[in-house]
Amino acid sequence: MNSTEEWIKREKDVHIQLYRRIPVVFERGEGCWLYDVEGNKYLDLVAGIAVCVLGHCHPHLVKKIKNQVEKLIHTSNLYYTIPQIKLAEELKNITGMDKFFFCNSGAEAVEATLKFARKTTGKKKFVAFTGSFHGRTMGALSVTWKKIFREPFEPLIEPVVFSEYNNVEDLKRKIDENVAAVIVEPIQGEAGVIPAKKEFIQEIFELKEKYGFLVIFDEVQTGFGRTGKWFAKDHFKVEPDMIAMAKGIGSGFPMGCVGVKEWVADKLEYGNHASTFGGNPLACSAALATIETIRKEELIKNAEKIGKLFIEGVRNVFGNSRGLGLMIGTKCENAPDLVKIALKNNLLINATSEKSLRFVPPLVISKEEVEIALEKLEVCKCTGQIK
Ligand SMILES: Cc1ncc(COP(=O)(O)O)c(C=O)c1O
Repeated sequence: MNSTEEWIKREKDVHIQLYRRIPVVFERGEGCWLYDVEGNKYLDLVAGIAVCVLGHCHPHLVKKIKNQVEKLIHTSNLYYTIPQIKLAEELKNITGMDKFFFCNSGAEAVEATLKFARKTTGKKKFVAFTGSFHGRTMGALSVTWKKIFREPFEPLIEPVVFSEYNNVEDLKRKIDENVAAVIVEPIQGEAGVIPAKKEFIQEIFELKEKYGFLVIFDEVQTGFGRTGKWFAKDHFKVEPDMIAMAKGIGSGFPMGCVGVKEWVADKLEYGNHASTFGGNPLACSAALATIETIRKEELIKNAEKIGKLFIEGVRNVFGNSRGLGLMIGTKCENAPDLVKIALKNNLLINATSEKSLRFVPPLVISKEEVEIALEKLEVCKCTGQIK
């Protein structure tokens, strides 16, 4: 069997070096735990970047995928398939949206919302926010804040105006009658877990009444129970016109989805958008199994309850914490170093910047596992300080 070093060397020979990977090669996972090629076991507070909501290889998910794989994997959207129809019906219940489009990733979902907004309103302009992250495709990138991601690929989609996140006055200045849509993360993930203020979200909806733009919630990271509700919009008691979803939807099976209100769907027609793979029977079966398990195991309640313990624990260790449910961030001095120290302590954590850590564990995480995580974080923090 090849060692970690050998695999890493082989990867370098054949991969475009677009990632800064942590030097570990994973082979297997179960619940909140991952196992590397050398047989080491790690507690996973990353969950594939807020993806594996059911933990790794949940038996119900595995069973449903196995059943479907033996029956039918793909047909394209030239035809009807049953899991896709069932999934849209389920999503209608949990999202409050009326109609759905399926794709394969978060960026693709965002891309579709931007197209839908232009088609529906006949307007061109988008308002996005400082700190936003919406994905790497040209449209999604156009509404993503960080210049280092955007600049090498300009010219992007225009016009896009960035308004300061959580700043009501700035938003009032930036909105006008040319805006097709405002796209917002109810909790900014890549920016380091920054929740929107209630009054900020309320103002977006008040301005919508006045100017008639659409509101797009990017719930790619916050959806499917992550924040202690099905969707983060439920914390704010608002109904956006569109929701972009991905990550947790298939608990690791790649999928994206856009949910829209009836009035958006009514203005869309044949030829406006499509996807070959989007919503294939296998992906939809994985998503159905994910939703079933979230319900059966009451994982949203768990995210809320365990999230409270976790956020408090993180505050005790680092002196600060923020977030909702099991989407938690903290400021700290040497985040990338702590990620490395954590790995040595068999703990997987993620740095969103030099100065912030993010914790987005599987929603199945137990109180005992949180206690282990917090003990390890304390050790990491002390080791980091000694260094
Ligand atoms: C809020 C948000 N939107 C969109 C994306 C892009 O998703 P993907 O990487 O699946 O394209 C991400 C990914 O981190 C995200 O956090």
